[in-house]
Amino acid sequence: MLFCSSVPSLRTSALNLAFRLLLATCVAALPAFSRLHAGELPAGPLPVGTLQPVQPAGLENVFRLSEKLYTGSAPEGDEGFRSLQRLRVRTVLSVDGMPPDLERARRFGIRYVHLPFGYDGCPAPRAEEIVRAVRALPGPVYLHCHHGKHRGPTAAAFVRIALDGLTNAEALREMERAGVGKEYSGLYADVRAYRRPDGADLDRAPADFPETAKTPPLVEAMVRIEGRFARLTEAQHAAWRLPAGTPGSRPEHDALQLRELYRELNRRPELQARTAEFRARMRAAEEQGRVLEEALRRGDGDRASMALGKIAAGCGSCHAKYRDVPSSR
Ligand code: HEC
Repeated sequence: MLFCSSVPSLRTSALNLAFRLLLATCVAALPAFSRLHAGELPAGPLPVGTLQPVQPAGLENVFRLSEKLYTGSAPEGDEGFRSLQRLRVRTVLSVDGMPPDLERARRFGIRYVHLPFGYDGCPAPRAEEIVRAVRALPGPVYLHCHHGKHRGPTAAAFVRIALDGLTNAEALREMERAGVGKEYSGLYADVRAYRRPDGADLDRAPADFPETAKTPPLVEAMVRIEGRFARLTEAQHAAWRLPAGTPGSRPEHDALQLRELYRELNRRPELQARTAEFRARMRAAEEQGRVLEEALRRGDGDRASMALGKIAAGCGSCHAKYRDVPSSR
């Protein structure tokens, strides 16, 4: 009995020691771990093959696919560009509709190239330009769209097939891992159909890549609508009561600007060429912008939230039908 009971106690103390040692190791490792999660990067570039999203300050959804290639979201402010510097990025390639922040990029000694495409898919000539740009420009290249989740990883897939020897199936799997939404059927279809170009074709093509591309008026307006909408959503999360001293405009001013952006769009000749159903949606969006603005001016938070909800539903349902699928081209 004595023997039996002493063994477990010996075992317990050995286990105890092991546990304490483990705990001490974990505590020692904790600062580094929590720093990473607080949005800071370990010094230097990310290891090649980082396929889980990393969120350094001012960037989101950062992946490192190869020696030459990162993907991620649009860099935000000085913080974003500082993070890019820490990653040793030398060229930033945007496929987003938003005009690039060239002045800031220059200040950080980073070159910008702008080769945008829509959520409905990437036309073959544009895919070719993206591949040529990544091949020709100094790396690592940071390839970004807006959130770093859909168009960026799609653009990267072309590069991975053309320059890194991935099969289409492998590149499609990388897109899935990065979280490219299944609803963007055109993005997947274009990568599935992509044919690797031969080196001679790539060499022959001109290598002058624009810093800012001219985007169609609808894309330009949408980028601005997105900006106002994001600010309004943030204000709603704060129950429409922004703390004193919050930089930028008031929510009712953002609502006014949102309504004006829709109004301007509704007057454009391009809109007259769209279907009656599309135009009716745009007019409904403008009307909800007006309701939102009025509610905010009256201080009616509930009505404002309801109007913003309708506006958000309008973005989603119009995009599902007219933006995110190839038939909308
Ligand atoms: C009536 C239809 C409609 C409504 C409403 C609408 N959009 Fe769009 N949006 C589009 C279409 C169509 C495109 C694609 C334009 C293109 O690529 O030519 C687009 C594109 C975009 C883009 C992509 C721009 C880029 O980088 O290429 C963003 C961002 C966007 N919309 C945000 C919004 C937000 C936010 C709302 C709501 C507040 C909204 N849109 C409401 C039709 C709509």
